[in-house]
Amino acid sequence: MTTALERISPSPSGGGQRGGAVVVERSVPMAGAVELVVHHPPSAVAAAPGQFFQLAVSAPHTILRRPYSAAWTDPASGRVGFIFNVVGAGSSWLSGLDEGDELDLLGPLGQGFDLEGDRPAICVAGGLGVAVFPGVVRALIARGRSVVVLEGARIATQLLPASRFPGADVRVATDDGSAGHSGSVVELFAKYFPPPSGEGRVGAVDILTCGPTPMLTALIDAALRQEISLSSIQVALETPMGCGIGTCLGCAAPRAGAGYFLTCQDGPCVRADRIAWDLMTDAFHG
Ligand SMILES: Cc1cc2nc3c(=O)[nH]c(=O)nc-3n(C[C@H](O)[C@H](O)[C@H](O)COP(=O)(O)OP(=O)(O)OC[C@H]3O[C@@H](n4cnc5c(N)ncnc54)[C@H](O)[C@@H]3O)c2cc1C
Ligand code: FES
Repeated sequence: MTTALERISPSPSGGGQRGGAVVVERSVPMAGAVELVVHHPPSAVAAAPGQFFQLAVSAPHTILRRPYSAAWTDPASGRVGFIFNVVGAGSSWLSGLDEGDELDLLGPLGQGFDLEGDRPAICVAGGLGVAVFPGVVRALIARGRSVVVLEGARIATQLLPASRFPGADVRVATDDGSAGHSGSVVELFAKYFPPPSGEGRVGAVDILTCGPTPMLTALIDAALRQEISLSSIQVALETPMGCGIGTCLGCAAPRAGAGYFLTCQDGPCVRADRIAWDLMTDAFHG
């Protein structure tokens, strides 16, 4: 029987393990963001690039855990990094953690990026969407793939430094023109891809992206204009979540064709041709 809310991934991960991690490092990787490094060997071993964790927060009036992508993992040292900005009570509480504090993790959860293949990979990040990419880029490079990172931010100091992407060709865009292309990362993307019939046409690539919904929809429009197949684009969605494990249905996102999928189980990394882009809304800016 077909239901409105269908699985789009073959084997959704029903949920991860739970565990007490210890913060071993706290830093500011770029203006307005915090990076917490925690020690939790089971998570460092289990997490695939693009998967996320539900982090327990003890701020007043917060009941739900908050979802965060693993920015990177290091199985050898048992460490996992999270990069985030402060937008509300949960992230504010997380930003107050320091070395030695405990953090309860649930995960890894959801589906990560599909990193297989030999085509060049283009990672397109808008704002804090860049947080998921250090581990993704490292894993792509380790597979011998050529990687371009296109990173956009409002101002230069809000860019995650290129040194966080060793081995990749990093190009940046800023809204105020203080670094790289003056304008959006989607414009930078369009510059990178000359018109379909133009000279210097880039061959087939895999595109991996994360950022605010308006940026993602603009990127999809640009890709269609460039005659890039949506099946070659993978999107890490940041749909607001409740449980993170497939029980509350709070993270439903519109599925191409009809119905919905659950971002926490079928995503957060989803191929762009599985999404009904005309129904995608910006949950945070109206
Ligand atoms: C799978 C997944 C992975 C994520 N990974 C990251 C990550 O690596 N780094 C990161 O910084 N964030 C990430 N997010 C977003 C993060 O979960 C939210 O920012 C966080 O839950 C906010 O919690 P809060 O209690 O601080 O804010 P709340 O009190 O829940 O919200 C405060 C205000 O901020 C707005 N808000 C909440 N989230 C966002 C957002 N993402 N963008 C803009 N406005 C927002 C709300 O609408 C509200 O107005 C991820 C989200 C998902 C679903
Ligand atoms: S967040 Fe509850 S079902 Fe996805």
